[in-house]
Amino acid sequence: MKKTSFLKEFLTRKNQVGAVAPSSKYLTKKMLGGLELVNADVVIELGPGTGVFTERLLELIGPKTTLLVIEINETFYENLKTQIKDPRAIIVKGSATDLDLYLKQIDKKEADIIISSLPLAVLPKTLRNRIVFSAKNILKTGGVYVQFQYSLHSIRILKRIFNSVKIKHCALNIPPAFVYTCTKK
Ligand SMILES: C[S@@+](CC[C@H](N)C(=O)[O-])C[C@H]1O[C@@H](n2cnc3c(N)ncnc32)[C@H](O)[C@@H]1O
Repeated sequence: MKKTSFLKEFLTRKNQVGAVAPSSKYLTKKMLGGLELVNADVVIELGPGTGVFTERLLELIGPKTTLLVIEINETFYENLKTQIKDPRAIIVKGSATDLDLYLKQIDKKEADIIISSLPLAVLPKTLRNRIVFSAKNILKTGGVYVQFQYSLHSIRILKRIFNSVKIKHCALNIPPAFVYTCTKK
């Protein structure tokens, strides 16, 4: 999908897309580096957009890993369905609020790792809290929730919900971003 099409989606649905361009390869590396992806049973990606993280995730997960990809935007969803043919990827059109339901549909109870690009800072507070709480609920103990944001705005809610939050910065992205790595203890 072209960068101009991403921008078009942003201009149509600013508070849902939350970014003017897809994430850079540098941010992709900071988001996915050091995670135990190859041995994971279930990895969930929230808000894949044009699929920059999805494509790299498919290179890093194991042959038996299920990658559950949740996208709310119709255009992004349709593009991903056309673009990704890997049988390990299950692409769902829906909201990140219903994670337990999507897991049930694939006969799974919990996830090892959640990669989120959701624009938490621009979502209504109740929706944001519901998404992060439900993500924590379906994570295994020791599981990891990785979230990027363009500000430190969401640090309070992530620290309140997860016991452990580490922050990295990625300058080489438009705009520069913070990566939060949250562990469920
Ligand atoms: C900042 S973009 C990130 C896109 C891509 N992952 C990247 O890094 O380039 C945020 C994405 O989250 C999606 N999104 C927003 N709210 C959502 C929700 N409640 N459930 C699932 N996806 C959502 C948007 O449609 C968009 O694709």
